[in-house]
Amino acid sequence: MEFKTIIEPFRIRQVQAVRSTTREERIAALENAGNNVFLLKAEDVLIDLLTDSGTGAMSNEQWAGMMRSDESYAGADSYYRFEKAVKDITGFKHIIPTHQGRAAERILFGAAVQEGQVVPNNTHFDTTRANIEARLATAVDIPTPGSHNTQSIAPFKGNMDVSELKIILDQWSDKVPMVLMTITNNSNGGQPVSMENIKEASGLCAERGVPFFIDACRFAENSWFIKIREEGYENKTPLEIAQEIFSYADGATMSAKKDGMANMGGFLALNDDTLAEKCRSMLILTEGFPTYGGLAGYDLESVATGLYEALREDYLAYRVRTVAYVGDRMNEMGIPILQPPGGHAIYLDAKAWLSHIPQEGYPGWALANTLYREGGIRASEIGSVMFGQQPDGTEKFSDKELVRLAFPRRVYTQSHIDYVVEVLQYINTIKESIKGVRIKKQPSALRHFTAEFENLN
Ligand code: F0G
Repeated sequence: MEFKTIIEPFRIRQVQAVRSTTREERIAALENAGNNVFLLKAEDVLIDLLTDSGTGAMSNEQWAGMMRSDESYAGADSYYRFEKAVKDITGFKHIIPTHQGRAAERILFGAAVQEGQVVPNNTHFDTTRANIEARLATAVDIPTPGSHNTQSIAPFKGNMDVSELKIILDQWSDKVPMVLMTITNNSNGGQPVSMENIKEASGLCAERGVPFFIDACRFAENSWFIKIREEGYENKTPLEIAQEIFSYADGATMSAKKDGMANMGGFLALNDDTLAEKCRSMLILTEGFPTYGGLAGYDLESVATGLYEALREDYLAYRVRTVAYVGDRMNEMGIPILQPPGGHAIYLDAKAWLSHIPQEGYPGWALANTLYREGGIRASEIGSVMFGQQPDGTEKFSDKELVRLAFPRRVYTQSHIDYVVEVLQYINTIKESIKGVRIKKQPSALRHFTAEFENLN
């Protein structure tokens, strides 16, 4: 008999208490935090869905590796175990550890991107974009046509528009230092990219002699979607699929805080000897010696083990099913979400759900505050507060007002998830009473982290 229930594929042997609060306490906490959930104390949060980055639970195997780590400054055993795992999965020649994903980005772009150049990507994550712009280069998003429609259903909505890539390469043949592909496409709903799309983009880059790099943060989740959605991959293991993905690339940047299952870590991996040497020299300036790159030996151990755990089929089935389960409940209740559910998060469509709040009232921000006020749940707005502030101080509303419920890996159980669903069900009954917010105080850039808000009446 094959049973249908997908269970958490682990036993829990260490627990961390979460603290329930009253609605009054949460209103006071929110008030103290300037109505900005980033400024809350984590102990005042019951279910924290702010990010899936570095917030996962590590396994007994990871902790065992950490206990026997080698903390030698140079040439530590832990580095060699890390290098072996990353080489096995990615096949790249040079493996450079970094303290997290954005450090790998900064070093790669610092070594390979010049002022005035153009870097295309299916969709840049904010830190990737910021690190390209810091080089005075331009980051261009070329998502697959139609992917801006939150309601369309497609198996690989994270894809790159390869015909647009061709136009860019034709137009600026000498201006594109590299092409990036982000898997899964976080800024576009955590949607996966197909092997076919990766192959096509990589083929075009090879033809034009342009290096093709992968932003691999959620490579294991992407591999799983290829297995279950793309013809010809159903009998391959996620590891084999991941190896094939990386075989089409010249290198990758990685935040191991996602599919490395670690609380800290990342890497830059690449084949080019000259570029690797340049990157290692930059690494020494700000991250550390090339065999530790800003990490402790025990961090390297946790990543070496975690990368394989992220590729386990029982884990990936449970992981992707958990997110899809929340999506199914939202669909049943008619709560609009970005469709279909991605690999690591559900994105609530606040513009559609709270359609009575104009964009001037930041409906996504108001919804994130409501989730906390009513249920102690912390989520992040991905809308006009995050993206609306222009460098010249003007305001430009985003086309989408989303709220991301990002699920930490192996942290919450089915009943936690059911609780989240119940809170959303309740909010659906009071949604008309939710008021917009006004910005009271804001910094000149990246305002969502520190701005203060006031509820509108
Ligand atoms: N690329 C992607 C696609 C990401 O999602 C992130 C981080 C990074 C790069 C940067 O990695 O944080 O280790 O420096 N995303 C987190 C998030 C922060 O919440 O989605 P990092």
